[in-house]
Amino acid sequence: MRERGNAGAREQVTDSLDRVPPFPRSPVPDTVVVLDFGAQYAQLIARRVRESRVRSLILPYDTPFDEILGLQPRGLILSGGPASVYEQGAPRCDPRVFSGRVPVLGICYGMQLMAHGLGGRTAPAGHREYGRTRLYVDDRGDLFAGLESRLLCWMSHGDSVTQLPEGFSAIARTDGNPVAAMADRRRGLFGLQFHPEVTHTPWGIQVLQNFLYEVCGARAQWTMASFIETQTAAIREQVGDGRAICALSGGVDSAAAAALVHRAVGDQLTCIFVDHGLLRRGESEQVIQTFRDHFQIPLVHVDARRRFLGRLAGVAEPEQKRRAIGEEFIAVFEEEARNLGKAQFLAQGTLYPDVIESGTRTAARIKTHHNVGGLPAMLQFTLIEPFRELFKDEVREVGRQLGLPDEMVFRHPFPGPGLAIRVLGEVTEERLDLARGADAIVLEEIRSAGLMRETWQAFAVLLPVHSVGVKGDARTYGHTVVVRAVTSEDGMTADWARLPEDLLERVASRITRELPGISRVVYDITSKPPATIEWE
Ligand code: XMP
Repeated sequence: MRERGNAGAREQVTDSLDRVPPFPRSPVPDTVVVLDFGAQYAQLIARRVRESRVRSLILPYDTPFDEILGLQPRGLILSGGPASVYEQGAPRCDPRVFSGRVPVLGICYGMQLMAHGLGGRTAPAGHREYGRTRLYVDDRGDLFAGLESRLLCWMSHGDSVTQLPEGFSAIARTDGNPVAAMADRRRGLFGLQFHPEVTHTPWGIQVLQNFLYEVCGARAQWTMASFIETQTAAIREQVGDGRAICALSGGVDSAAAAALVHRAVGDQLTCIFVDHGLLRRGESEQVIQTFRDHFQIPLVHVDARRRFLGRLAGVAEPEQKRRAIGEEFIAVFEEEARNLGKAQFLAQGTLYPDVIESGTRTAARIKTHHNVGGLPAMLQFTLIEPFRELFKDEVREVGRQLGLPDEMVFRHPFPGPGLAIRVLGEVTEERLDLARGADAIVLEEIRSAGLMRETWQAFAVLLPVHSVGVKGDARTYGHTVVVRAVTSEDGMTADWARLPEDLLERVASRITRELPGISRVVYDITSKPPATIEWE
């Protein structure tokens, strides 16, 4: 181990690795494109397609047809969305989507748009259909093959198709809606008024699979094993004899990205781990150890703790904190990358939701996310982003298959700015220690109750609030800690975790007993929205 200075104390681990034998480059798997007319539905549809082992890509609704065709999709799915087709400014796709060159399935708004665009009529429904609705299937060919003729489906719409376009027939109806599904088999165009992608339509996956396999003829080729093979070959080709670096955060995305790039190019990859001193107890040692044990990837460990603390001195405002940490991180990373010399490639664990959001984002900024996986494409680097197409659970599966240990694969998400945004007010060493201690107790207790996988995140927050207490007959006036535990699917929305009372009691008594200076522990029972998961 070689140490130098505060800001740059670094450790170079340079075990050499045998290069894995080359893999043949696999062809691109059969793909279905989802056109996004309202983000949440589109992602769910894309996930269902992937669960059916067909590759799916989400594109903005107005993507030109030529661009779509360039991806050689087997089929297209138009998602639902909140608009009405006859509203001014309602989202519309390229009309050539309905030309019959590629099979299309329109769902809810997607079906209404198909009807509208091909000369049919869509109008506000006499009464809104919402929730579980009885469906009568009149044609059990293709889409409804293998299903009963009476089913319960999930509806959520205010508009309906009131006149079919030429060439179409109704293939299912409900009590209130004569066109609950429609088809023009000659052109391969289909529409569903209900939502097959939601779990409330439990047989909906079969309709989607009938569309994928029977109508589009797509083959089930999307597996994480084949993804790893394809990406390994692609990365090897991209990097050639060059050198790559990867910023490790300790989380699964950057760790799996490093493991994959390492699989492709061996020790042409060097990882950089910047310890900003805002990590949880024992975390930095754990990240390094895990990498040594499992990968022996050449690793530069930068101890930048003092440097970050210095930069944060006197900063209490959340956005200022985030900006300061983000800027400092880039500065340290750039310095280290320069020290390493001639790396041309920067590997990152960017995920598909980040890519989709940055392509179509219209939402207001709630907080500036600083993400180790979100370094700007600095100067001379070419990015390697093998997970640009994957969702988090797919990356977890890739990590698992690449041999990452479970504690890393299923690690709770941890924000890039770390404990700094869980120490409200100014970040000092003393206050960080308190937050770190409380955090460790929360996690220990949840882990020993076997509830880690059931919670999306669990942590402690140190408030800039003192309150009166009593210890051994004496008055105390100490810090307040918030315990936060949430359940969530994707971090976009979250519910507070209903942790057992005795567990909460143990957490509170341990924190107040083991951490002098903390006299009160409260449990956060706010969901997201209206709150966010983190406090800053
Ligand atoms: P919020 O607090 O916005 O958090 O509900 C949603 C998810 O994002 C994580 N988070 C971050 N992750 N850099 C990150 O890499 C950040 O700046 C950041 N801020 C929040 C948070 O922990 C939760 O999982």
